[in-house]
Amino acid sequence: MSGIASSQVDPFAPDFLLNPYPAYEALRALGPVFALERYGVWAMAGYGEVEPALKDWKTFISGEGVGLNGMNPALPKPLTLQIDPPDHDKGRRVLGRTLSPGVARKLRETFQQEAEKKVTELIDKGTFDAVTDLAEAYPMKVFPDAIGIRADGREKLLAWSTFVFDSFGPENEMLAASRKEGLAAQSWIMDCCARDALRPDSLGMMIYQAADDGEITEHEATHLVRPFLTAGIDTTVNGIGNTLLALATHPDEYRKLHHRPELARNAFEEGLRYDSPVQTFFRTTSRDVEIGGGEIPAHRKVLLFMASANRDPARWDGADRFEVERTATGHVGFGAGIHACVGQMIARLEGELIFSELARRVKTIELTAEPKRRLNNSLRGLESMPVRVTPA
Ligand code: HEM
Repeated sequence: MSGIASSQVDPFAPDFLLNPYPAYEALRALGPVFALERYGVWAMAGYGEVEPALKDWKTFISGEGVGLNGMNPALPKPLTLQIDPPDHDKGRRVLGRTLSPGVARKLRETFQQEAEKKVTELIDKGTFDAVTDLAEAYPMKVFPDAIGIRADGREKLLAWSTFVFDSFGPENEMLAASRKEGLAAQSWIMDCCARDALRPDSLGMMIYQAADDGEITEHEATHLVRPFLTAGIDTTVNGIGNTLLALATHPDEYRKLHHRPELARNAFEEGLRYDSPVQTFFRTTSRDVEIGGGEIPAHRKVLLFMASANRDPARWDGADRFEVERTATGHVGFGAGIHACVGQMIARLEGELIFSELARRVKTIELTAEPKRRLNNSLRGLESMPVRVTPA
């Protein structure tokens, strides 16, 4: 690894994950690219490197897996995420159509009604756990309903995706802990993806429509419903949870949102930049590549610290400040380039509606005890966040 700085830090260790931001600053200071000795991989943490690498899919490929250990064994035959063009194009086209802005517009009314119900229930309670009662409860109701899956057993969705996201990192204690429950949920998850398990007139059935039209096979349809359940729940849960924590700990920013609820979509976007639910993904180099005077050889794993890029002062003024009025466009919390999150319209819809409803009807949100982090190899989220709200 000559010509390249190196670091001994373990970005998957609990003390790193509890508060990664000071470590990200130190890693960015190492230079445009550095080696992580412990895992024998290369890494980038600055916005100026991470964002172009995400877009350069020919050099930084996904087809050898976006985790440390090559292909993720939890996802045997991917049709999205861990696949390169031209094979990537077909699944992306079908998913893109299913999760389009037009579809998001159709879902708005139902998602809005559920946001109203949820906030009414929480105001009646006054004090509650903002993770289980809000950040988990709202997306776990609206999104699986939209996909068209059964109502019972939905807690398995979190166990499954926690495991999948853990498995992008090394074999450590977190992965060992989530594997058992994750694997126990696997057959339930696959059952939910079957055609006859889905409600007619649902997003899931739109995927099977593509099979009926001959665009994909029946087998491919089943495997394209699965990313909804893997990538679409825990990410949004953590996005809502992390943004809520930022609002609860920045009362002046919450006040701005309360006075101008139309800022809700922006506030959620800023939440995704400030404390990104997806912290990292790997790529593999397809060729020798020179970056900032250092060279990464071909066929090497490169860890992209997206959450660090989102806090890079070279890109963001006051990068460590949470500001609901900031224009956070350009953050890489949803990735960038051909793999940029295909579900981002739906995630934004959920964020906008739940935060605008809260902003309108809740005057203050305060923590009543220390929030607890839930550690994961790729995701940043919370285990619990006890809060008290006062109605407007
Ligand atoms: C891709 C984050 C919600 C489905 C991605 C990527 C990120 C991301 C960072 C890029 C992966 C890469 O470059 O390797 C998030 C966040 C969300 C969210 C932060 C919520 C706040 C959703 C939802 C869905 C979804 C609601 C719905 C199904 C996907 C899929 C991909 C993806 C299928 C792979 C796209 C491809 O390979 O072309 N997401 N996501 N995500 N996301 Fe999301």
